[in-house]
Amino acid sequence: MKKLKIVINGNKKLCGSVRVSGAKNAALPELAATILSAQESRFYNVPRVEDIKIMYNALRQMGADGDFSGNTVSLRLAEIKSPLAPREIVETTRASLLMLGPLLARHGHARVFSPGGCAIGDRNFDFHLEGLRLMGAEIHEDGGHIVASVRNRLKGVHYSFPGKTVTGTENLLMAAVLADGVSELRNCALEPEVGDLIDLLTGMGAKIEGKNSETLIITGQTSLFGAQHSIIPDRIEMGTYVIAGCLGYNEIMVENTIPDYIDALLAVLTEMGAEVATWDDKVTARASGLTLSPVSIATQPFPGYPTDLQAQLTTLLTQVEGRSRITENIFNNRFQHARELNKMGADIIIENNVAVIRGKTVLTGGDIRATDLRASAALVLAGLIADGRTVIENAYQLLRGYEDLPGKLQALGADITIIEE
Ligand code: EPZ
Repeated sequence: MKKLKIVINGNKKLCGSVRVSGAKNAALPELAATILSAQESRFYNVPRVEDIKIMYNALRQMGADGDFSGNTVSLRLAEIKSPLAPREIVETTRASLLMLGPLLARHGHARVFSPGGCAIGDRNFDFHLEGLRLMGAEIHEDGGHIVASVRNRLKGVHYSFPGKTVTGTENLLMAAVLADGVSELRNCALEPEVGDLIDLLTGMGAKIEGKNSETLIITGQTSLFGAQHSIIPDRIEMGTYVIAGCLGYNEIMVENTIPDYIDALLAVLTEMGAEVATWDDKVTARASGLTLSPVSIATQPFPGYPTDLQAQLTTLLTQVEGRSRITENIFNNRFQHARELNKMGADIIIENNVAVIRGKTVLTGGDIRATDLRASAALVLAGLIADGRTVIENAYQLLRGYEDLPGKLQALGADITIIEE
């Protein structure tokens, strides 16, 4: 992994418009879904981010023909040469896991690297394995790999997820579309990325009822076609720039959005006293000259407040007079950005899964370190409003999920560069 760092000279007013890229967390399962067909699929509005490049390269190594130019990807896996998802995608733990369902469904066996925990906490996948076993898969772990096989064909399953899981829903969905019989999946995740995957699979000929509901009914097919699909905009990137617009005297218009996707964030910003406005595909939120109020929020599965926008909101709350609280209900270690923000002058105390943020504090630039993808975005936001120079190490984390973030921020007036360490 390249050693990169981001250098920001803060306190520049940002104004102008920024265009949101395609959703990383939709593109990831959707590229994996090309395993399900021998025909070519073509994707538009694909974000050029590291996690997607890694998934694309892994599929190529498994035998896919393909092309990735600009924001368009085409992939065709006529025959699977190796059912092993290569090592380099193990870093993006969900990528390897998302190949399990499609490989079992199309190929009858799979060998993927077992995703370990990651910086934000346990990334359990027991529901994935439980559901696949009920579909007839034999699965065991062998020296850091998950090895799975099914004697002839997966069979339809009635399965209720014990807890909300985004990639668990996606994995079993991709297994069920080629299974023998009808599957009924209950307590499914409602994130928009699941709906976008359903749109792709339906375009490939899958029979799925219940999109945007917690119960999905899938009638398995014997094979699927290729499809063309434009990926939905990234709601977490959207929310990150909307929050940036509420910092200092910034005036940012966020374009290519679907405002409904960030309703929970817009409700919190409105409650804080920011001025929020939405048009059909544009969103702006501003607090310039306004006094924001502290809030208490808790992260929840969609449509609740998204855990992936928790770190970014924390940075904004350091600038709000009073005491705010964020309860993190999804992951058990997702406050690592707090330590780095405190190095810059923030006053954040962590009590179990609650962050108590006391503002307003002046942030001063310094040397800090990104621990995970969304924490790195929170640190960039802090650098933008800090006095002086901020250097963020391990900046590769940012490139995993934000397309050209330094370029997009420079266009808004930020003094930000990314350099090799
Ligand atoms: C997806 O991760 C996203 N990643 C995450 O975004 C996001 O934070 C998360 O959903 C929650 O919204 C992708 O879509 C690629 P989960 P996922 O399975 O699917 C527990 C980002 O920044 N759980 O919904 O791995 C699990 O431990 C990333 O883009 C089980 O216990 O999340 C976690 O505490 C970070 N058993 C909680 O559920 C399981 O079998 C939510 O996990 C599965 C999950």
